[in-house]
Amino acid sequence: MMRWLSLFVIVLASSTFTVLEGAPAPEITKALLPTPSDDTDRNVLTCSLCREFVTDIYQLLRNESVTDEQLIDYVVDVCIRLDIFANPEQVCGGTALILLPTIKYIDSSNVVTVGNVCGMLIQGQNCGLSNPEQLEWTIDINADTKPPVDQLSPPPEGSPTVKVLHLADIHWDPEYLAGSNAMCGDPLCCRATSGEVVNATDAAGYWGDYRTCDLPWYLIDNAVAQMAARHRDVSYIIWTGDLTPHDVWSTEKAENIMIIDRLMTLIQQYFPSVPVYPTLGNHESHPVNSFAPPEITDVELNTAWLYDEADRQWARWLPADASSTIRYGGYYTTLVQPGLRIVSMNMNYCYTLNSWTYLKSQDPASSLLWLTQILEEAELNGEKVHILSHIPPGNSDCWTVFSREFAKIINRFESTVAAQFYGHTHKDEYKVFYDLVDVTRPINVAFIAPSLTTYSKLNPGYRTYTIDGQRPGSTWAVLDFNTYIMNLTDANLKGAEVEPVWTELYQAKQEYGLTDLSPQSMDALFQRMLTDDALFQLYFKNYHKNADEVVAEGCTNRCRSNLLCRIVTTDIGDQSKCDQIRHELFSHPEF
Ligand SMILES: *[C@@H]1O[C@H](CO)[C@@H](O)[C@H](O)[C@H]1NC(C)=O
Ligand SMILES: *[C@@H]1O[C@H](CO)[C@@H](O)[C@H](O)[C@H]1NC(C)=O
Ligand SMILES: *[C@@H]1O[C@H](CO)[C@@H](O)[C@H](O)[C@H]1NC(C)=O
Repeated sequence: MMRWLSLFVIVLASSTFTVLEGAPAPEITKALLPTPSDDTDRNVLTCSLCREFVTDIYQLLRNESVTDEQLIDYVVDVCIRLDIFANPEQVCGGTALILLPTIKYIDSSNVVTVGNVCGMLIQGQNCGLSNPEQLEWTIDINADTKPPVDQLSPPPEGSPTVKVLHLADIHWDPEYLAGSNAMCGDPLCCRATSGEVVNATDAAGYWGDYRTCDLPWYLIDNAVAQMAARHRDVSYIIWTGDLTPHDVWSTEKAENIMIIDRLMTLIQQYFPSVPVYPTLGNHESHPVNSFAPPEITDVELNTAWLYDEADRQWARWLPADASSTIRYGGYYTTLVQPGLRIVSMNMNYCYTLNSWTYLKSQDPASSLLWLTQILEEAELNGEKVHILSHIPPGNSDCWTVFSREFAKIINRFESTVAAQFYGHTHKDEYKVFYDLVDVTRPINVAFIAPSLTTYSKLNPGYRTYTIDGQRPGSTWAVLDFNTYIMNLTDANLKGAEVEPVWTELYQAKQEYGLTDLSPQSMDALFQRMLTDDALFQLYFKNYHKNADEVVAEGCTNRCRSNLLCRIVTTDIGDQSKCDQIRHELFSHPEF
């Protein structure tokens, strides 16, 4: 009973962000989704709307005389009714057509409970679950063996450090066309097919566009050339996925493979002797967001084609022994240097827009079980671990049970996991993990890097980290990070003939007045932002990579509580820290 999902996948995937957005979301999603969870009226509306579709489609599905065409027509009709896209036939019909075989397969398994669907799909809205026990699972962790937590001391003056470049959400659009229509009303514009330009201000900029557009090749080439020239001291690169464009209604496997290949080759050309540690974004798959668990053997529907391709592409940088888990579930581990291990997770298995999550949400591909085993070995071997993945756990689109179990693992292995790195949100942000018993004790930090894509209302950006380096007893902790951006307004004003200027937006320690980037310091930063308006405004500006329009719009009290909530939420099902924030902000009426 899943065909109605087509609709929501379109709506949600078109923005790639969901309900906890702190700032104005793309126009197309405004009609339906970004309703922060403190807005009761609209919650009711959104959940009831979701249930209405579920009921409708349930009836269509039980009716044997309803054809595939009629189902797709139904989805298109709903899109027309909601008035969310300029070309509902193309966008909604196209996405539904691509997803239909997957949805039908999942439906035929008869394991999906209709009353659980809305509560899972738009979990930030608290629609409720009819049978929560069906979605319950836990990972066995031997908490008794947890070693005592050492107080980490900062590296002595003059200690070696490692420079790391973080690439996130590049979203190359091979069809980007300067001067085409940027106001097309569909999830992706700025293409020859985006329709007529009715007003000169609607034309796509040369170097990119703040509206719902992805990046032209020459901007990406310029960005990477600039990185290579500026950061000659990079030891390795982490690359957290989402390479393909937001045309979710017209994706093809061959196109995705071409994009992955071209971009990987580009990075290798500019950084010929630098190892790269990649991970898969939700956009790399076809249909978009679809990552099947390994037990699905139907090659037309499963994800083997992508895992095999990832293995081939990543073999440029990874040792041969990473291969088997990549081909099994899209994840791997490898030693970067003696003492430092990278674990690249496939968090698309927690993604609530991944239709396969409805068939199997119980630790798909056993990736969390595998993670605990890797961390146990690392602990025994005295290694520190950097976890990297695309979707940050605790994001509103990462399934709560998965995030909860993940947080338990981080708790158990807090002394082994030195840092976590993610992308997906396109924003420059971070999350703090807390002890599950002493809930005020910060234990870990997730660094979430900004996107290279401008989608949407953003400047192109990326990050570098300075990490505690090779020395006896190295913490391998993140000591500082720098975010770099390009002012797109400025680049487009100067035009095609002038090289765009990339500037350092900020250095974390200096910008926020921190002595280090430890969990304690990042928690203290969060605490200060609750009451220090100037500091929060700085965070808000950096969160949007100083994009002129959004920063000028400012951040309302609700936007503020959402942004701060994101920092302390590592499981969307646990709102206790958010409730405190709302209470806190409510008692400071000057905000
Ligand atoms: C089944 O679908 C047919 C064709 O769309 C429609 O005429 C009929 O009323 C439906 N039956 C039920 C029980 O909904
Ligand atoms: C074109 O866009 C500008 C800026 O948004 C607006 O002021 C103007 O009225 C528009 N012109 C037409 C003909 O719609
Ligand atoms: C970006 O460039 C534009 C045009 O030069 C300028 O007006 C604007 O202030 C710049 N934005 C920032 C944040 O510097």
